[in-house]
Amino acid sequence: MRKQIAAANWKMNLTYQQGVALLQTMVSAEISLKENHIAVFAVPFPYLEMAVDTVQHKKNYFISAQNCSDKKSGAYTGEVSAEMLKSLTLDYCLVGHSERREYFGESNLMLADKVNLCLLNGITPIFCCGEALQTREQNKQNSFVENQLKQSLFHLSKDEILKIVIAYEPIWAIGTGKTASTEQAQEMHAYIRSVLKNQYGESFSDQISILYGGSVKAGNAKEIFASKDVDGGLVGGASLLASEFLEIIRALK
Ligand code: 13P
Repeated sequence: MRKQIAAANWKMNLTYQQGVALLQTMVSAEISLKENHIAVFAVPFPYLEMAVDTVQHKKNYFISAQNCSDKKSGAYTGEVSAEMLKSLTLDYCLVGHSERREYFGESNLMLADKVNLCLLNGITPIFCCGEALQTREQNKQNSFVENQLKQSLFHLSKDEILKIVIAYEPIWAIGTGKTASTEQAQEMHAYIRSVLKNQYGESFSDQISILYGGSVKAGNAKEIFASKDVDGGLVGGASLLASEFLEIIRALK
């Protein structure tokens, strides 16, 4: 049974005090999760230790970083290594969010290094992929996303690929209020799974969780998550409100 995951990406939002309050509300909420349901909170670096402490007794709640360095350690001022994240007992790390690709020049090859360092340190990368509007308008989204997966993930062994979560986030749907239609999301998720199947075989591709991201809200989560190949969501704006994100967790199938 694939993991169904509701992942919050706070991005660069909320003060420390607001973050504490939001996580405490999330932890104290009555919520009954199935065995394969997981809630992940990708919080800013300075909040990670507090976040790990806050959720540690809550079953199926996990903390994620939003990024890590592509370097192992050393003279890289301002960077945070996967090994440092491991030392905080972190379970997940976002890798290759489109905002990092666009504003910080992260390439597919650099992301392969980040994925490797996460795995080396026992951290599950939530690997983000997705096309810009122009690419979709040219109907080149499939080959674009396939190339992202090939260059950043396909050096991994079968055992390693099972430790990856994929998040498909079409850039044109992020923060725009415009979601992909359920058909568009299912179509791309099925395509990603078929590419994984070609590379690793069906018994592996069937086990990999593929999340959808881009304007997921309490009001549309259930419909989006209902699709066969959609295993939950990576949520920005709507994860900053406890009531919204709790509904999104409850929408997992
Ligand atoms: P929004 O949910 O705000 O569109 O952001 C999606 C996203 O980028 C999550 O990583």
